Amino acid sequence: MTKKHREAIQKQFTRTAEAFSKFAVRDTPEVLTEKVEFAKPQPTDLALDVACGPGAYALALAPRVKFARGIDITEEMIRRARAFQAEKQIANAAFDCGEAEALPYSDATFDLVTCQMSFHHMPKPELALGEMVRVTKPEGRIVLIDTLGPESDSKFELHNAIESTRDPSHSSALRLTTFLKMFDDCGLEILRQSLKRRQRSFNHWMLRAGLELHHKRYQETRKLLEDSIPGDKAGYSPQVQDDDIIIVHNEGMFLLGKAAKSEI
Ligand SMILES: C[S@@+](CC[C@H](N)C(=O)[O-])C[C@H]1O[C@@H](n2cnc3c(N)ncnc32)[C@H](O)[C@@H]1O
Repeated sequence: MTKKHREAIQKQFTRTAEAFSKFAVRDTPEVLTEKVEFAKPQPTDLALDVACGPGAYALALAPRVKFARGIDITEEMIRRARAFQAEKQIANAAFDCGEAEALPYSDATFDLVTCQMSFHHMPKPELALGEMVRVTKPEGRIVLIDTLGPESDSKFELHNAIESTRDPSHSSALRLTTFLKMFDDCGLEILRQSLKRRQRSFNHWMLRAGLELHHKRYQETRKLLEDSIPGDKAGYSPQVQDDDIIIVHNEGMFLLGKAAKSEI
């Protein structure tokens, strides 16, 4: 990762750590439970959540595993995750500051390695996935959850332009086909796959990025989205509702295993 991109991520997520934590109800308690169940957590598992943000997923996994760690590049996110842990009085969890592309853990350390809603911030997500594979035990599981970019080229470009206008640290919402190729390249087999259409309020989504009506970037993002409505040119299936717009993020959830060497 370039120094410039690292700084863009740290600036965005330091600036928005409070808003992000407060409005992180992108995952309602029901959706968070769904994501925990999807990972098939076991009481003996050592779990790691990569790019953990304020720690919601790691702390939701903790009661179901032996120990849960989270790691994130943004110190302020780690500070929030630790505060959230203290508030919830969860003893079997810990948080580290570090990069997904260079995880500070030994090979084959974890039974369960997860990463959600973060690959779209990484210019080279294959490096992070390679690291996740490295630190996973041979019989371990990897859970990858992220928004999916549209397969159509024109929609893909506009979709990512809207995402980058909202959040300059956005890199690219990967297509399902790109994820599948990356899994194959990393020698992973898909144990389970679930594709979801997650409806969101545009205004709420903007708040999570620290943006309100009076901000220039709110106005620019909203204009791009509104212009995309005829023909759904950016793949958000947008629907105006009073002063808000209901949008859809297609989300891929993948449970992956290390393929046996002979099968690679
Ligand atoms: C959209 S937030 C998602 C946080 C959390 N996974 C969740 O779902 O609530 C993206 C997070 O990825 C982190 N991040 C981005 N690139 C990273 C990298 N290369 N290594 C570690 N963390 C990274 C950011 O600091 C931020 O906390």
